[in-house]
Amino acid sequence: MSAIFEEAKELMKVWGGFRASRVLLTANNYRIFDHLTKPQTAKSISEKLNTELRATEIILDALTGIGLLKKNKDKYSNTAITSKFLVSGEPFYQGDILRHADTLWQNWSGLDDVMETGKPYRKAHNHEAFILGMHNIASLKVKNVIKEIGLKGVKTALDLGGGPGTYSIEMAKRGADVTLFDRPETVEIARRVTSKAGIKNIDFLQGDFIHDDIGKGYDLIFASQILHSLSEKENIYVIKKCKDALNKGGRMVIQEFHILKDRTHPVHSALFSVNMLINTEGGRCYSPDEMKNWLLKTGFKKVEEKLMDDSVLVQAVAL
Ligand SMILES: C[S@@+](CC[C@H](N)C(=O)[O-])C[C@H]1O[C@@H](n2cnc3c(N)ncnc32)[C@H](O)[C@@H]1O
Repeated sequence: MSAIFEEAKELMKVWGGFRASRVLLTANNYRIFDHLTKPQTAKSISEKLNTELRATEIILDALTGIGLLKKNKDKYSNTAITSKFLVSGEPFYQGDILRHADTLWQNWSGLDDVMETGKPYRKAHNHEAFILGMHNIASLKVKNVIKEIGLKGVKTALDLGGGPGTYSIEMAKRGADVTLFDRPETVEIARRVTSKAGIKNIDFLQGDFIHDDIGKGYDLIFASQILHSLSEKENIYVIKKCKDALNKGGRMVIQEFHILKDRTHPVHSALFSVNMLINTEGGRCYSPDEMKNWLLKTGFKKVEEKLMDDSVLVQAVAL
């Protein structure tokens, strides 16, 4: 291969990335992977899914090329990755977050407009896919995160913007009295997720954590993946509100995607900031130092950070 072509391939990898992503999102929309737990021909898949044969065959071949299916003669089947993550009902199922990504796709198509206006381009939203998608992601890390936080001495915990309740479930299982605070439309989903998990001792508070009362008397407030959708001013306000809601000696733990001070890496986080640019008025990823400053500014002490898989935990004590 010529050197110039080799060099240009780096660029192609980035601009052409949408094609693999689109094929995967469409395959997930059609729940193709649910039907490929055993080898099947394209014809049998197209009959089961009621899709056009040529289109189905081309998509199945592309999925195989990407490495998400295996092809043996004319039969296709899941790989270890798709079996584990994209077959409905599997414990680490990720299909809902892909459905959420599919709606984000529509909003990301407005990025040119956002560049001009600086305003969000939030045309599409599927709340159930969003919240269940949060459950998909959190299920991959909840045990490690709650273990790292440690619940020694925690009788009462608030899961602020707790979403589907994945972290609430783990804290409740470990004996804490948990209150999950979120918007009414999210609480409805959280009730379903927590009851499916067989957890009964979680209280639900519904409202807006900026404008409404979040309760008080907590030993721990966990604020996971909520600050990135807010502006700096709103975050300081919410953190101060949390400080006032904690018992003396209580802890606030923030979980956010980790981003370095210069905001360029990890690349996933830099791109996630673009997601917040497109979908929120004032959100982006914040560096651990920025969050630590807010905690100190609002009167918290003993501020610490800990890097996890793709996130950072920033913890502080209300004295
Ligand atoms: C990205 S999800 C994070 C869910 C969960 N904490 C986690 O880490 O998996 C953000 C959550 O915050 C909730 N949320 C956002 N703004 C809110 C507000 N102003 N008041 C209450 N809940 C809010 C959303 O409904 C959603 O459940």
